[in-house]
Amino acid sequence: MAGKPSPQLAEAMQAIAADVANLFDALLPVPDDPRARLVEAMRYALLGGGKRLRPLLVTATAAMYGVDRGTALRVGCAIEAIHVYSLVHDDLPCMDDDALRHGKPTTHLAFDEATAVLAGDALHDFAFEILADPATSGDPWTRAELIQVLATSSGWNGMAGGQMMDMVAETTTFDLHTITRLQQLKTGALLSASVELGAVLGKVSPEGRAHLRGYARDIGLAFQIADDLLDHEGDAALAGKALRKDAEAGKATFVSLLGPDRARDQARMLVDQAIAHLGQHGPEADLLRDVARYIVERDH
Ligand code: IPE
Ligand code: IPE
Ligand code: MG
Ligand code: MG
Ligand code: MG
Repeated sequence: MAGKPSPQLAEAMQAIAADVANLFDALLPVPDDPRARLVEAMRYALLGGGKRLRPLLVTATAAMYGVDRGTALRVGCAIEAIHVYSLVHDDLPCMDDDALRHGKPTTHLAFDEATAVLAGDALHDFAFEILADPATSGDPWTRAELIQVLATSSGWNGMAGGQMMDMVAETTTFDLHTITRLQQLKTGALLSASVELGAVLGKVSPEGRAHLRGYARDIGLAFQIADDLLDHEGDAALAGKALRKDAEAGKATFVSLLGPDRARDQARMLVDQAIAHLGQHGPEADLLRDVARYIVERDH
């Protein structure tokens, strides 16, 4: 599975990581009152780790349509805040009970459980605060559409719904169809939304959006198969989190159902399919193509 991003992608990942960190830092100053602990926990979870793939997808898609980078970056930070909140809650003792994330103690261990729950809640709200701010878009219709896409992909019809199915998967045997649905919601929804948010900013036509949706759906599924493969056979030091957790929890995944070889084939097939959806685009979509390839070959 070891794989490095292309030089172009590596440069884009470095740039987005720096820009995302700077914007979070600017948007979230620690108040000089007892709320400081909450904001410190939010900043702890937000800063210093993460591949920032979702902001990268927002900015890469938006750039294809000439959207201002500062605007796309704010939207990227909004979806990253949702992603980070999902990780803070995912790591809690009542969910995956994990001690390490991004190579550091998880938020509930660095602070305490109640603070981690509140930090997750407040990160969720922070995301919508960013999107609803006129600084993100002067057009109220655009703001409403951004909010709608992010809300739908985060809630019961998206990530939270997938997380519920994931919990149920520990005690129920799901077939491949149900596992696919689980993964599409748990992980695919936010990755797809990242591309969709870029398309909303770019005011892309319905036809153009259909192609982008096809791309996003395929990389979303490929991404979670890669996460499950990493859990099965990856290097925990590189991953910065505990691995071999899925089998231990008796969780059905693509890897447990198909075995690692067929799961890997499936992920690679999805990547080819994702790239094929970009067929009508020229070099302006090269970054999205590179992201697709990196998603299955990554080592963390
Ligand atoms: C990890 O996502 C959790 C899943 C949705 C599978 P990422 O691998 O994108 O997490 P970071 O932010 O880069 O650590
Ligand atoms: C987490 O999936 C997905 C979300 C947080 C929505 P996992 O539980 O597989 O993610 P890791 O392996 O802890 O990063
Ligand atoms: Mg989990
Ligand atoms: Mg987990
Ligand atoms: Mg995992």
